[in-house]
Amino acid sequence: MQATITIKPDCVISPIADAIYSSFLEHMGRAVYTGIYEPTHFSSDPDGLREDVLALVRPLALEYVRYPGGNFVSGYQWRDGIGPKAKRPTRLDLAWEAIESNQFGIDEFMKWAEKAHVKPMIAVNLGTGTPKEAAELIEYLNAPEDSTTLARLRAENGHPAPYGIDLVCLGNEMDGPWQICAKTAEEYARIAHETAKMIKWIDPHIKLVACGSSNRGMATFGTWERTVLRECWDVIDYLSLHTYYADENDTASFLSRSQDMDDFIKEVKRIVDEVAREKGSDKKIGLSFDEWNVWYHFRQKGVFPKKWTCPRSIDEEDYNGTDAVLVGGMLSTLLNNADSVKIACLAQLVNVISPITTIPGGDAFVRSIYHPFHAASKAMRGNLVEFDLDGPTYWCATRPDAAYMDCTVCRNGEELGLLVTNKSPDEPIQLHLHGISGRMSAWHSGSLEEKDHEPCNLDCIVLEPYTWNVITIKLDQ
Ligand code: AHR
Repeated sequence: MQATITIKPDCVISPIADAIYSSFLEHMGRAVYTGIYEPTHFSSDPDGLREDVLALVRPLALEYVRYPGGNFVSGYQWRDGIGPKAKRPTRLDLAWEAIESNQFGIDEFMKWAEKAHVKPMIAVNLGTGTPKEAAELIEYLNAPEDSTTLARLRAENGHPAPYGIDLVCLGNEMDGPWQICAKTAEEYARIAHETAKMIKWIDPHIKLVACGSSNRGMATFGTWERTVLRECWDVIDYLSLHTYYADENDTASFLSRSQDMDDFIKEVKRIVDEVAREKGSDKKIGLSFDEWNVWYHFRQKGVFPKKWTCPRSIDEEDYNGTDAVLVGGMLSTLLNNADSVKIACLAQLVNVISPITTIPGGDAFVRSIYHPFHAASKAMRGNLVEFDLDGPTYWCATRPDAAYMDCTVCRNGEELGLLVTNKSPDEPIQLHLHGISGRMSAWHSGSLEEKDHEPCNLDCIVLEPYTWNVITIKLDQ
């Protein structure tokens, strides 16, 4: 098969926000306990943080890591996780039918974030939690040194200086019946609005993410977004989107899901623009795609570990090559919408639906989906630029004209980054690049594993079947 990409390197569409390369850590499965935190592990530092995991996280160059949930946050009392560990209560975690020991809490997460070189994106509990409790958490984290009782409590717990967090999620998936204390759109919009006001009074620098729908298939999708935006417009900065895709024995349809993700983003953007017009406002509300990934292997196996244990090892995905190709495609979709998507969190990071897996007491290793994210995070920065793709298509059950290729082009100074996939199971694609002159400086591709190619002439690029590809080109001056 043949494909041509005509690149307009001087036509910038939008800067790419660094926060598109973010991720997520929830108190779920073994993400925290025996994931990032395992005091008895041979690689752990004096705080119990696994250095072998940190060594795999850092190269991803993540901007934010969202914490502590997810569904978990809707039943979480942040005060349970601070202070002397021996005094912390053990609780039922109703979200994941597990036991929460609270041996890892917000102060431990802040230490981990610093060591991982990431910024915290903190979700507050708007399920069982109140606006007051959420505001107190923000005061605990950000109030000036020695200014209040909560600031002094933070100092007692080892951190006199404010943490200076700058991004907060107002709850999680509050439209979902599975959510602890789920809400109607009106109920959520009111509590989100009042919580937002208090948080901004405490620290006006904090940017806030309001919950959009849990996914595009929710019966209230659209109405939910409009209600929340109308009520919260003046106090929020971002609206969230979530999606996970599954291969239900139809890989061709599964691989076309990056196009569904694109439709989803454009639909939410239209709603945001519609409410902006209604309000006569030129305020920009960005999209925070704060949960996205491929998720199905664990559930398809249908073997569920014993409930009410700590940790309860759920949703450990054994990712294959086509999962990595779709993750590459989904990243391409996020980047192509860089004008509206300002934050995106690969959900999640360690052991749960994750690119990194640990063995308790043993090694840490990466899975197939780690590689496209890692390669893109290194090469696909700067500005999104215009391009035209003339490439082959195929029929599948969900689309008559699914594209064999996802494609994104970005420019960082005189370097051009190209992210392209080939979704064909058996046919290579000969790629022709028009509109630029330069030389290839790097080419990484993969499916199950990552391959480093020798740079080749720009007219000799052949994309192998079932691969993601990240190519860097040095433009001629
Ligand atoms: O990431 C796993 C779960 O998926 C999150 O807790 C929830 O927000 C979503 O449904």
